[in-house]
Amino acid sequence: MTKTIVSGITPSGNELHIGNYFGAVKPQIELQNEGHQTYYFIADLHALTTVKDKQTLESNIKNVVLDYLSLGLDPEKTIFFRQSDVPAHSQLSVVLTNFVTYGHMKRMHAFKDKLEKGAGEESINMGLFNYPILMAADILLYKPNGVPVGEDQRQHVEITRDIAENFNHAVNQDVFPLPEAYINKDVGRIIGTDGQRKMSKSLGNIISIFADENIIKDQIMGSYTDPNRKKATDPGTVEGNPVFLYHDLINQNTAEVQDLKNRYKEGAVGDVEVKQKLIAAHQAYFSTARAKRLELEQNIDQVNQILATGAAKATEVAKETIKEVYQAVGLRK
Ligand code: TYM
Repeated sequence: MTKTIVSGITPSGNELHIGNYFGAVKPQIELQNEGHQTYYFIADLHALTTVKDKQTLESNIKNVVLDYLSLGLDPEKTIFFRQSDVPAHSQLSVVLTNFVTYGHMKRMHAFKDKLEKGAGEESINMGLFNYPILMAADILLYKPNGVPVGEDQRQHVEITRDIAENFNHAVNQDVFPLPEAYINKDVGRIIGTDGQRKMSKSLGNIISIFADENIIKDQIMGSYTDPNRKKATDPGTVEGNPVFLYHDLINQNTAEVQDLKNRYKEGAVGDVEVKQKLIAAHQAYFSTARAKRLELEQNIDQVNQILATGAAKATEVAKETIKEVYQAVGLRK
């Protein structure tokens, strides 16, 4: 059965990292290539919660668009667009605010985490507080079956279902089917190079995809391994060791990975060799995407055309949903 699939990426930073790629983008591209009706977008309105500088936002959007296309997003198959180009996202969000309570919103992680990290209520903007409602609108507009995302977005898909149920119940009509979060348990939460927290640009614990090779080398060489291992001859732990998790994702030479793991456990290989092999594997894995990105950078007009076409197609579908929603609540006959 052909499914409808929706997902987005916020251009809050200027590049995608391997956490974004393996946790979300790769599964999204697979769904696209399996022939499902896919809608992927750049959640630029969401980025306003953190990015307040115009040039930074413009540059982030451009870079994330190029990254996404280089990693295999095919505009012939996927409806690819910028959220702000489709006003229906904002329109639906305004309606949906009335179908979720303040109490429920206060329990959302992104907001609660900020408070717990010591941010006062005076410093949390309403865009961040309302973020899950805009995200529910992003999703529900296209009435998808599935939303492929990383683990950190699970709660957002759950609240989307709650909002959809509340809405359907209030209007006594099944306007919105309930979408399912597609989260892969092995790659839904890629650990950062600090070995502690999820990989995240804002935490500075990423491995880039398109950055300068020297930067990627430094990121990999600086990655956390087994803290109890002092010398290369000490037996080391492979399970949960970020460098081996990355090898499992990136290194296509499985025999090499197995050999490194065996020698690591025996204390017969140094961290440097393990990391150098990871650097080489990274170069091999992403070389096609990196070449594609260089090519796209020379064709920005074509990229803008892709986004314009995508926005027009998304608008057609989204407008119908708005019509239906307005009718259901009594704003239109
Ligand atoms: P964002 O931009 O923070 O992240 C984009 C996608 O990458 C996933 N991800 C990860 N997966 C595994 N391991 C990690 N370390 C890791 N870091 C990030 C995220 O889970 C996400 O799937 N709110 C969303 C964007 C959004 C959206 C939507 C998504 C807006 N509207 C509607 C789906 C549907 C976000 O900020 O993702």
